[in-house]
Parts: sequence; C-alpha cells; structure tokens
Amino acid sequence: MIADRFHQNFMVRGYAGSWHPSSHDQCSMLSVATSTRLLLRRHRPLPLTGRIRNLHRASSNEISILDQRYEVDGTTNITQSIIAKLPLRLHNQPAHPLGILRSKIESHFHDFARLSSVHPVVTPAKNFDLLGFPLDHPGRSATDSYYINKDYMLRTHTSAHEVETFAAGQSKWLLTADVYRRDEIDSSHYPVFHQMEGARVFKTDKAGIEEVKADNERLSRYLDQSNIVIEDIPHTSPTNPAQPTHDPVHSELVALNLKLSTNSLLLKLFGGGARDAPLQVRWIEAYFPFTSPSFEVEVLYQGKWLEILGCGVVQQLTLDNAGKYLCCFPFSAQPHPSPGIPDNIGWAFGLGLERIAMILFGIPDIRLFWSTDPRFLSQFSENKITTFKPYSKYPACFKDISFWVPEGGVHENDFCDLVRDVAGDLAEDVKIVSD
Ligand code: PHE
Repeated sequence: MIADRFHQNFMVRGYAGSWHPSSHDQCSMLSVATSTRLLLRRHRPLPLTGRIRNLHRASSNEISILDQRYEVDGTTNITQSIIAKLPLRLHNQPAHPLGILRSKIESHFHDFARLSSVHPVVTPAKNFDLLGFPLDHPGRSATDSYYINKDYMLRTHTSAHEVETFAAGQSKWLLTADVYRRDEIDSSHYPVFHQMEGARVFKTDKAGIEEVKADNERLSRYLDQSNIVIEDIPHTSPTNPAQPTHDPVHSELVALNLKLSTNSLLLKLFGGGARDAPLQVRWIEAYFPFTSPSFEVEVLYQGKWLEILGCGVVQQLTLDNAGKYLCCFPFSAQPHPSPGIPDNIGWAFGLGLERIAMILFGIPDIRLFWSTDPRFLSQFSENKITTFKPYSKYPACFKDISFWVPEGGVHENDFCDLVRDVAGDLAEDVKIVSD
C-alpha cells in the first residue's frame, strides 16, 4: 500500500560520463556527490613549426597578439595557450585573490603611484639590455622566455618597466603586471604569473638625504614596537657591494630604507596579533644584474622559510638609461624626451603575487588562480583575505535517486554504506534533499 511507504529520492554529484545528472523531482531526498579522476593521455608534442601553424595568424607569416600584428621568424616560440592569457589581467579584478592582494600592498604604500595595465609585449632591450643583463644570461634563451619574433617578446618580469617608469619622472611607484616564463608543469609553477615592482628614489642633495634619514627613523620606531624578529645582514659587504658611483653612506641609507620599508610590508601581510608568535623574517645576499647591493627576503611560515621577494639598490645604469629614454608615458602617448632623474639614488623590489596569495588565502595549486568556476570566484570578496575552501577539481555532477522504503524508513547511514559499496570514494557528498 502506497500510504505506508515512503518514496525517497537521492541526488548524486559526480564527474564521470557514466553518471548522468537527472533532474530533481519533488520527492528527492538524498544527494550523493562523486568525483572521478580524468586521466589525460599524453600526446607526443607537436613540432614547433606545427604549433606555430596553430597560432592566430593574420596571414601566413604574421601572428595577431592583442589586436596587433607581428611577423613571425625563426625566434617565434609563443603558443596559442599563452596568447589566450594576455587579455585576462587577473590582477585588475578587485575580488580576485590577486586583485585583493594587490590592493592590500597598494594601501600599505599609500603615497606611491599605482600602475597596472601596462602592455605585456616588450623589446628584449627593455626586458634585459637597459637593465644591464649580460648577453649570456640564461633568461634570454628561447627555452626560458616567450619570443614573438627576434624584436619582441613577452616581459619576463616587471623590472622590464623600470626604465620607462623612472623616465616618466615617477619617484615612488608600484607597478603590477602579468609576466611570462616558460616553465615546468606542477602545482606551484605556471608560465604566466603576476609580479609587483615597487621602487623609490631619493635626490642625492642634502634635502633628499634628510628625507631618507627621516623616513628611516619613522620606520625604525614603528618596527621596534612591532611583533617581528629580523635576521639581518650588512647593508653592503665585499661580496654585495655599494656601486662605485655611489657615496657609500648614501648607499647604506637607501639599503636601510629598502629593508625597513620591506619589513613593514611583510608585517602588514603576514604579521599576527601582539599575542601571536613574532613574525620571523630573514635577509639573504643575492645577485640581480640591475641592483647592487641585492637581497632576497624570506618569511618563516609553518616551519618553512619561504622566499618572498628580490630587491636591491637600483643600478645607476637603469637611472642613467631613464635619463636618455624617449619617454612615452602613459605608455600609449606620443614619445617625448624624458624628464629623467639625474642625481638620484633608490631601491626596487619585485614580488610574485601568486606565491604570497597561495600562503595568505591557503590556495594549494597555482592553476586555481585561472579558474572561472563560481565555486572558486564566489569565495572571495574585495579587500578581504579569506581561507580558500577546497572543492572537487572536477565539475559537479548531481544524481537524484528516489526509491520506496519500508515503513520506519531507511537510516541515512544505511544508505551511505550502500553508496560506498557502489561508488567507493568517488562520492563526495550525500544529502537528503526532501523527506
Ligand atoms: N625582477 C626580479 C625577478 O623577477 C626581482 C627584482 C626586482 C629584484 C627588483 C631586484 C629588484 O626575480
């Protein structure tokens, strides 16, 4: 008799093609979520010429990139999947973890100019030569960088914009952009990622040096009262020297300003409350062609030292080149002679936004930043750092299941054991939808 039975309905969420979602009916009761792993067969890679043939070609020997046509030549190694990323500019989305982190850093350096949306196609001169990269630097090779042709490439770092930004007369600035490097495939590497360059220059006259000293005093006072332990190294040393054209006293003052400014940023990003364990930061000697002295900074996080950024005192060559540069800032305007920044000394840092965002938001895989899945995007909102809640890598697949049960009903646990027997761990979630 129908009256003494219950008609039950279950919903199953899964991924495999063998499970087809059915529509809910009015008596659905439990939902079971499953996911199966998609195994991709490895294909032999297409030879390079084959891949180039697959690009958006305006004609047989041209490619179209952000509405601009470029001739291809023997250097061309940019691929379709990379071209597709160019318009996305994740750092400009205010409620995306990268946009949220960008705003947080910008609000810390509140009186710095904020630049973004700078075109990703640069000349090798901008990316390397004007910054003093040696000709045999590995970063220049076609196995490490994306070339459009011999004259144009995708920037590999935001430092590529140092010369033009200084040339525009900017003395305190942050520039955020997507950068491109050919890389391995795993959870922490992706050929496109986002960097923020920060820089500040001071005049070397009396007023400029007084400004550095006053800022150093202000920042030291703040850090002295803060819950931070800093493992420092000398500002300059024989292996990490001041530049020959710099007054060594000025170089030390500017390196100190860099360290104090960076430590206070790290405190803002990673510091806990006064009762938490102090934030531990350590400074390490480094080498970059475009800074001297140079440093890397690491933060102790969950028992591991994590590299956060590279920085140093800007090579005078960069500032000299800025003085000679034909300036076209904002980057679309007509080129005109640069106001330049003679008699200045300053610092710069470059940080990877993904690496920091993965820590702050608890995002376990760098590929998630590119997700357009609402299960990812809806978790974040402007100006808020929240912890990522994992979900299946696979699109949800719901199954509604309904059946008749004997009088007294079926216990949910009995049904769950039945699901386990049939679907194993593929079932993610089982829910009663209606009684
Ligand atoms: N451009 C460097 C990188 O990508 C970082 C850096 C920026 C180092 C500015 C020093 C000064 O690794």
